[in-house]
Amino acid sequence: MGTRDGRVAGKRTVVTGGSRGIGRSIALAYAKEGADIFLVATNEEKLKSVKGEVEALGASADYTVCDLADDTQVSAMFDKALTWRDGIDVWVNNAGIYNGKPFTQYSYEDIDQVMKVNVYSVFRAMQLALDHMGARGSGKIVNIASTAGKWESPNQAIYNTSKHAVVGMTRCAALEYAAKGVNVNAICPGLVDTDMLSTLQTSAAALGVELEEMQKMVLSRVPMGRFLAPEEIAHIAVYLGSSESDGMTGQTITISGGMRMG
Ligand SMILES: NC(=O)c1ccc[n+]([C@@H]2O[C@H](COP(=O)([O-])OP(=O)(O)OC[C@H]3O[C@@H](n4cnc5c(N)ncnc54)[C@H](OP(=O)(O)O)[C@@H]3O)[C@@H](O)[C@H]2O)c1
Repeated sequence: MGTRDGRVAGKRTVVTGGSRGIGRSIALAYAKEGADIFLVATNEEKLKSVKGEVEALGASADYTVCDLADDTQVSAMFDKALTWRDGIDVWVNNAGIYNGKPFTQYSYEDIDQVMKVNVYSVFRAMQLALDHMGARGSGKIVNIASTAGKWESPNQAIYNTSKHAVVGMTRCAALEYAAKGVNVNAICPGLVDTDMLSTLQTSAAALGVELEEMQKMVLSRVPMGRFLAPEEIAHIAVYLGSSESDGMTGQTITISGGMRMG
């Protein structure tokens, strides 16, 4: 059950992409530690369902439907999140999309869509959250980047490009707001067992291999030999939203089953 003396007790927390996968796990982990949760995504049924799960843990929740690819909707969503509990303490930029293809096969539309959701919406939400938190002198921003934001990977260049941008904006905002009481950090997960992994199917097709073979190829790069559970990412997200991480900013925490140790 949610607890009012939990690690993020009473923190008004926004989770984008809170309708499923890692975002859902982050919302539930924050709820267990006493936070109030505001969920953002496009699928209303799934948002409603996660809201119910959060409330079943004894926490309070609300949501708004927002297509993050649309800048006007992002600004409107921020206003709703802000007025819900008259302030925001933690902002988790988790929503993201994947598009795997060989480098030269991306169309302009492919690039545009990934950049809008993974980069522009995160940048805009950070601008709005930083203004609010900076004026108040406290707040936490947690960005879900990826190992793809720190290193190269085959056949997903636009995804890697977008996640490198998230790492870049995390560090720059952290520097500008370090003395203003706002912590900005990122988590860089490796391979997590969510719907996003089903996009391996697209990569497999592009390479002309079976999905099972593709999964084996991918897991051969993971020393632990397994996909991560979304809850494993959520634990770090709670740490970064809590006072336990007050001295940490501009960091990119990798959790990847040992894939990439540098
Ligand atoms: N799974 C992995 O292996 C992995 C590894 C490293 C990093 N990540 C990152 O972790 C984050 C979460 O990924 P996941 O694995 O949980 O993916 P997922 O299961 O596909 O969930 C993606 C979430 O983003 C939301 N979303 C997507 N497009 C949106 C849009 N245009 N507007 C609003 N919401 C949108 C989805 O909600 P709706 O469908 O309701 O819109 C959903 O809640 C992403 O940033 C991803 O890049 C994932």
